[in-house]
Amino acid sequence: MCGQSTIRDRDVFILSDEVYEHIIFDDVKHQSMCRHPDLFARSFVVSSFGKTYHTTGWKVGYCVAPAALTTEFRKVHQFVTFTTNTPMQLGLADFLASTPEHHLELGGFYQHKRDLFCSLLKDSAFTFTPSAGTYFQLLDYHVFSNEKDTDLAVRLTREAKIASIPISVFYDPANADAIADAPRVLRFCFAKEDATLEAAARILCQLDR
Ligand SMILES: Cc1ncc(COP(=O)(O)O)c(C=O)c1O
Repeated sequence: MCGQSTIRDRDVFILSDEVYEHIIFDDVKHQSMCRHPDLFARSFVVSSFGKTYHTTGWKVGYCVAPAALTTEFRKVHQFVTFTTNTPMQLGLADFLASTPEHHLELGGFYQHKRDLFCSLLKDSAFTFTPSAGTYFQLLDYHVFSNEKDTDLAVRLTREAKIASIPISVFYDPANADAIADAPRVLRFCFAKEDATLEAAARILCQLDR
């Protein structure tokens, strides 16, 4: 049973990865730890400029925490990360100042891509639930293959020239049973040009073996 007192009475801190905080669809609201004072009091909320500003690879992010926690966090962080690329930080600061409303458009921007990708796959052999957030769509292939997700991902990359992420790689490597029993699901990224999504869907719609 999980009641509110469970965490309040314990020496627990929360590391909340909220990098997709603005990529959320269908008018649902992101439930940040920052919204709940009791939870935020013990939280480190991390996010990424890479996801919000289409700059994946720049590796610039941020951590929000109460003053007492961030004081301790900084002592560790300076030895873990050491430094961050200054020109990229300045570029992001300029963009934030000039375009403060950018993040408000992000959900709609990616929702269009999700809808396009899902509509193009509706007659495919995959089954799926449209993604509720992030720029990834999970596709279930159990109808046409019993291969492990890692094997199918490699085969599709080699033979069909389409890349995906097998979700079992996110599992605990020590839990061999969970990996063996992983659902037959691959993860596809739809942060792509519409023409690329159309080309990908053409390939995916041909798969039934
Ligand atoms: C859930 C999640 N957290 C954190 C990250 C890291 O983000 P970045 O590479 O922009 O720092 C990623 C990147 O893919 C992610 O998917």
